[in-house]
Amino acid sequence: MKKDPSTSVFIFGLCMILWACNDSGADAFIGINWGRLSSQRLIPSMVVDLLLQNDIKNVRIFQQAANVMEAFYDSGIRVSLGLSNTLLDKYTNSSALGGWIDDKIITYEKVMEFGYVTVGSNPFSPKFSDKMYMNVVDVLMKMQTELNNKNRSHIKATIPTYQDVLNLTSSSRPSEVDFRADIKDEMVRYVQFLRDNNAPLMYSLFPIDHVTNNSLDLEFAFIDNNSTYRIKDINATYKNAIELLYDSLHWAMHKAGAGTVKIVIGAIGWPTDSCPGAGVANAERFYRTFLPYIASGRGTPMRPNEKIDVFLNNLADENRMIPELGAYQRHWGIYKFNGEPKFRIDFSGKGRDIFPSVAKGVTQMPNRWCVFNGNFDDPRLVEVLKVMACNASDCSSLEKGGSCEGLSYVDRVSYAFNRYFQSKGQASQSSNEKCDLAGLGKVVTDNPSKEGCEFPVEILSAEYVVEGETFGSAGERLHGWISASMGLLLLLLLWMIV
Ligand SMILES: *[C@@H]1O[C@H](CO)[C@@H](O)[C@H](O)[C@H]1NC(C)=O
Ligand SMILES: *[C@@H]1O[C@H](CO)[C@@H](O)[C@H](O)[C@H]1NC(C)=O
Ligand SMILES: *[C@@H]1O[C@H](CO)[C@@H](O)[C@H](O)[C@H]1NC(C)=O
Ligand SMILES: *[C@@H]1O[C@H](CO)[C@@H](O)[C@H](O)[C@H]1NC(C)=O
Ligand SMILES: *[C@@H]1O[C@H](CO)[C@@H](O)[C@H](O)[C@H]1NC(C)=O
Ligand SMILES: *[C@@H]1O[C@H](CO)[C@@H](O)[C@H](O)[C@H]1NC(C)=O
Ligand SMILES: *[C@@H]1O[C@H](CO)[C@@H](O)[C@H](O)[C@H]1NC(C)=O
Ligand SMILES: *[C@@H]1O[C@H](CO)[C@@H](O)[C@H](O)[C@H]1NC(C)=O
Repeated sequence: MKKDPSTSVFIFGLCMILWACNDSGADAFIGINWGRLSSQRLIPSMVVDLLLQNDIKNVRIFQQAANVMEAFYDSGIRVSLGLSNTLLDKYTNSSALGGWIDDKIITYEKVMEFGYVTVGSNPFSPKFSDKMYMNVVDVLMKMQTELNNKNRSHIKATIPTYQDVLNLTSSSRPSEVDFRADIKDEMVRYVQFLRDNNAPLMYSLFPIDHVTNNSLDLEFAFIDNNSTYRIKDINATYKNAIELLYDSLHWAMHKAGAGTVKIVIGAIGWPTDSCPGAGVANAERFYRTFLPYIASGRGTPMRPNEKIDVFLNNLADENRMIPELGAYQRHWGIYKFNGEPKFRIDFSGKGRDIFPSVAKGVTQMPNRWCVFNGNFDDPRLVEVLKVMACNASDCSSLEKGGSCEGLSYVDRVSYAFNRYFQSKGQASQSSNEKCDLAGLGKVVTDNPSKEGCEFPVEILSAEYVVEGETFGSAGERLHGWISASMGLLLLLLLWMIV
């Protein structure tokens, strides 16, 4: 009964081939968002290299600058891109949209792969911007129609949609959930169009927002089901906010006759600073259980065995994000802005206890910090802080729940001074003027960081950031630097510091 080894090798090989064919494209992907609203940025080719090292093959970008597009040439990474909210009023007709498709997709097709075309960014969520963009569904429909007309029907247009499009409350059962009444007609039109075009709905799903907004047990935000809080529905018990939010959307679509529309999670993650529950340990724990869950393809109670594609939010921190939902919006990064990972994460979903690759070729600025000279009595202090420190940089770590919340007064001022100094590329070696801050700052070479609160040294910025020309990750982020919400934040920070 001796088996011919070559037969088993052949059978094994055949199985491998069949398995590989059967498997191709069937697995859920774990992609990432690359928002770039920061003062110091990694150069695009460095980021693409980082993605490749981590074997991340799907990415969302928020701006289609030529140098960003070029970095993806022949990388094999599938790029999703689209129109920001502020462009929705410009691209209202088919010919304008056709031109956009020619410029942004067809021109690059030979050297780049494209994923989804995103139309707007959480356009029905007033929290993300100053208004709602009610023409978004029309633009979406015209965009897909133009894609189809140009024989690009394999590219699907979708609207990134935040969880607040649902009329969900803290105690709602998913089966009771529907779209918010004020936008219901538009949402119904939208999801039926997706259904008819075999396109997915892109969902921005932030479990920490759900639990903090509704004052629920923070544990409920993690998928490891450690929470004792439960929501019992018709035929399922929800033990975590992720499945609850996912199935709530499913039910709303189901009621609109579009229960078969695929849901792609366009943004999900955990902030590491500046709100209660934020932090590196919780972020690590969140991904440690969430990514294997995605890789397992288990699906949710309403959609068992559904493979869920996700884009993690975000690659790195964005210190120029306008924090509509709170200061933590600047701390979604899995990486620090210098390309070092903040915590262990296995992007493959295998749950290994590993750090991801570090960005290569980053140049750190010299180890120099700017601190307050301690002269509290100087009447120029308030003016210095107001004008120079926090609106030109990022003091969000000083906020409630932030890693630097507990600093003494003098250290808070130093923190603000240092962020300003770093964001300005440190001072010229000769004059120190950037740290002078009306004579109240001094440069030090001993690291002033305190327990748990890092005083960062930034990287040499490889790109000049044109203000008002940048799009960030989870929300709509085209902003002039000085806006009303920024003014409020500034007042808040000032109030906290002084
Ligand atoms: C379409 O939109 C573009 C850009 O907004 C505009 O220049 C053009 O006049 C519009 N065409 C028509 C036919 O409305
Ligand atoms: C799309 O494909 C059809 C059939 O293959 C062809 O007749 C048509 O010209 C193509 N249209 C464009 C815009 O390429
Ligand atoms: C937060 O809760 C309020 C009141 O229940 C609700 O109107 C709002 O949509 C919720 N926001 C989010 C992001 O869940
Ligand atoms: C959501 O809308 C549905 C359908 O109109 C309604 O039955 C349900 O009570 C609403 N839920 C809330 C919390 O308003
Ligand atoms: C948590 O419970 C849900 C059912 O609500 C189940 O689908 C999921 O797999 C569980 N997660 C873990 C990590 O056991
Ligand atoms: C589970 O929740 C309890 C509190 O309810 C907490 O003390 C414990 O650390 C949690 N377990 C994990 C693994 O985080
Ligand atoms: C749950 O209940 C709904 C409605 O009664 C039904 O359509 C669905 O198939 C059920 N799901 C499961 C997993 O039993
Ligand atoms: C800070 O904001 C104020 C207005 O809010 C502006 O006048 C000032 O120029 C800003 N300072 C810097 C350094 O950007």
